[in-house]
Amino acid sequence: MIYITRRECFSSAHRLFNPVLSDSGNFEIYGKCSNPNWHGHNYIMYVTVRGEVNSETGMVMNMKLLGDIVRRLVTDKLDHHNLNTDVDFLQGVITTSENIAIAAWNQLADEIKKAGAELYKIKIAETENNYVEYYGN
Ligand code: NI
Repeated sequence: MIYITRRECFSSAHRLFNPVLSDSGNFEIYGKCSNPNWHGHNYIMYVTVRGEVNSETGMVMNMKLLGDIVRRLVTDKLDHHNLNTDVDFLQGVITTSENIAIAAWNQLADEIKKAGAELYKIKIAETENNYVEYYGN
């Protein structure tokens, strides 16, 4: 089993906000990340898939195809958009990196399987100091 990883970037606005809570309740949990007028991050997403090496191609999966899938189904929809308002697959979700990783997994898993590999991990770095990793259920 070999693991390969594709990196894609996106720059997005968001606000961490739970509509069940008041503004001050949100501020207690999320601090300035809950500022009403949004803020942004330059996110880096790493998508790791695994499989056996195809003896004809020498590859688990074509990295260009993997990048195309990630951009088409995920990062093109996030890049230069507001994660709270603009993204169909994030509706009703608090836009933490945790939830973005889970939603991205759900967008990608089937399409990667069709391409002959298995989605293994999604890693999202929101800042240089913070990243989350999701391995599916
Ligand atoms: Ni933020």
